[in-house]
Amino acid sequence: MSTENKNEKMEAIVSLAKRRGFVFQASEIYGGLAGFWDYGPLGVELLNKLKAEWWRAVVTESDNIFGVDGAIIQNPRLWEASGHVAGFTDPMVEDTVNGKRYRADHLAGIDSTDLVELTELLKDKKSPDGNPLSEPRIFNMMMKSWVGPTAGDIKIKGVNNNVLKIEAGDALIEVATGTDEVKVTRINDPSAVYLRPETAGSIFTNYQNVRETMRAKLPFGIAQTGKAFRNEISPRDFIFRVREFEQMEMQYFIKPDNQAETYEYWRQFAWKFLVERLGIDEENLQWHEHDANERAHYAAAAHDIYFKFPQGFKELWGTHNRTDFDLSNHQRVSGKDMNYFESADEERFIPYVIESSVGVSRMLLAVLSDAYREEEINGETRVVLKLKPELAPYLYAVSPLLKNKPELVAKAREVYDVLKKKHGNVMWDDNGNIGKRYRRQDEIGTPYCVVIDFDTLEDDTVTIRDRDTTEQKRVAIKEL
Ligand code: GAP
Repeated sequence: MSTENKNEKMEAIVSLAKRRGFVFQASEIYGGLAGFWDYGPLGVELLNKLKAEWWRAVVTESDNIFGVDGAIIQNPRLWEASGHVAGFTDPMVEDTVNGKRYRADHLAGIDSTDLVELTELLKDKKSPDGNPLSEPRIFNMMMKSWVGPTAGDIKIKGVNNNVLKIEAGDALIEVATGTDEVKVTRINDPSAVYLRPETAGSIFTNYQNVRETMRAKLPFGIAQTGKAFRNEISPRDFIFRVREFEQMEMQYFIKPDNQAETYEYWRQFAWKFLVERLGIDEENLQWHEHDANERAHYAAAAHDIYFKFPQGFKELWGTHNRTDFDLSNHQRVSGKDMNYFESADEERFIPYVIESSVGVSRMLLAVLSDAYREEEINGETRVVLKLKPELAPYLYAVSPLLKNKPELVAKAREVYDVLKKKHGNVMWDDNGNIGKRYRRQDEIGTPYCVVIDFDTLEDDTVTIRDRDTTEQKRVAIKEL
């Protein structure tokens, strides 16, 4: 099969991910749920390695970047102050016959949230099912929930002046009896909360806590990895655009004068991380600078790194200049002082923030896509994941040449135990013939397969086979 065709490549990756235990559909036995995925034994290893590498590069190797792990649910005023309640929206259109909803900008084929422009572009378009479309409207992507014992209850408030009032969650529904009139108003429900749409929120609210406890001076950063939730109108492209995902974010707090150089530093940091730490081919990366129409409500400048996913070049990692937008708004809404006092200049000001933000599942898809190869070997096609050895879920697979020879199995177990103690991520594989085992290990990206045969019993050497070259060498066990 040729993987030149983008959909075939995506299908091949989705199939490999399921077949080999990287990614499963969430609640698959119930038909799944759009935009939600589970990670299997190999997927979770790869996710953990990506997060560990990012944490090492951002936090452990730095002197002035500190980690936090905030709650997913915060006081909803945080999201009012951050502008997400009013501004975290996507333009949406609806199929007027079957009610299916779509991103208006995707159907129009432009990166824009301008409703006038979208209305004009979509006026003669039909839905993917061939039906008329509604006018585009704005849709807030934050996911809601309720906390507390009366959470989300439905209450009949009574009838007053022939109007029946029902409170449902944070909506007040008024039905004028004897007419067709129904009115829905948003009310202030104190038990309504949001699942965080980005991890950055609790970094901003903890800025003074971290500064004080770590005695941090500008510039300093706060990093966080964790789940974020977005009610995406059209989740798509496997794990690329989902409704629940993990982010790795870092906010770097600076003096306003240092915006340009800090922005440039973190932009280049992201590129270097992908190439040097994850081994991604630079040919698969490109820059994309946001124009004013495309930028998030908090950003004064934004550069994305686009990766060549099977569906085309798309956003992988964003660097944003968030200015003092977040801290100023938190100061305004909470009434708490967000100023920084620079004793050298006797200066008091609200720091600016440069943000580096990337999704872990999107990074995992990029890594799988970058590593995926179909190669002809001796007239046969093999599928191989050429992952950087440090990222491979397993570094070694250990096999006895024949699984019905107890002396080979016992020796192979010995080698397995030694390697497991030394490296941890080692797989025992005695299923099928050696050729099948090699194919299976190629598919999951195991760099080295170690086979124990009769010579091993004589001279304590093994055959080690290299995933990328398929070459086999004889080496002493103690050299592994
Ligand atoms: N705090 C800034 C922020 O959240 P963003 O561009 O909305 O910025 C940052 O998201 C990164 O999070 C993206 O570059 C992408 O890697 C990931 N991401 C965003 N939405 C996603 C989704 N629906 N599914 C998977 N990953 C997503």
